[in-house]
Amino acid sequence: MKTLSPFILLLSLFAGCGGAASPRVEAIVALSTDVQAGKPLYEAKCQVCHGANGAGTSLGPDIRSKENNTDNVEIIVEGGGDMPAFATMSDQEIADTNAYANSL
Ligand code: HEC
Repeated sequence: MKTLSPFILLLSLFAGCGGAASPRVEAIVALSTDVQAGKPLYEAKCQVCHGANGAGTSLGPDIRSKENNTDNVEIIVEGGGDMPAFATMSDQEIADTNAYANSL
């Protein structure tokens, strides 16, 4: 038992951060962003579902005035519900696209 308890401690630490973002999401959130570089990416990849002004379409919800960057980056990287993942975009592209989306 003596050797098992540190393991259990570690396990419960992991369980404790069940809702935490992945290291990639954390790294993207920490990048500095270029809103203008994000504009063409948003228009090419996001506009079809979220609309030119971010107000949403029949395919995706209104994404204006989003404040929680970690959640936004997470859904772009990992997808969720009917939102596809954009994991093949580079970290910087995701950061810039999210920054543009947040500016809408
Ligand atoms: C195929 C349509 C589609 C595309 C393309 C798409 N999304 Fe989404 N998006 C959705 C849907 C549907 C949801 C709602 C997902 C859910 O929670 O069920 C969503 C959710 C989101 C949310 C969270 C909204 C909230 O209320 O929490 C953000 C932020 C977001 N999308 C940003 C983007 C960005 C940025 C892009 C481009 C890289 C993008 N989306 C591309 C369909 C799409």
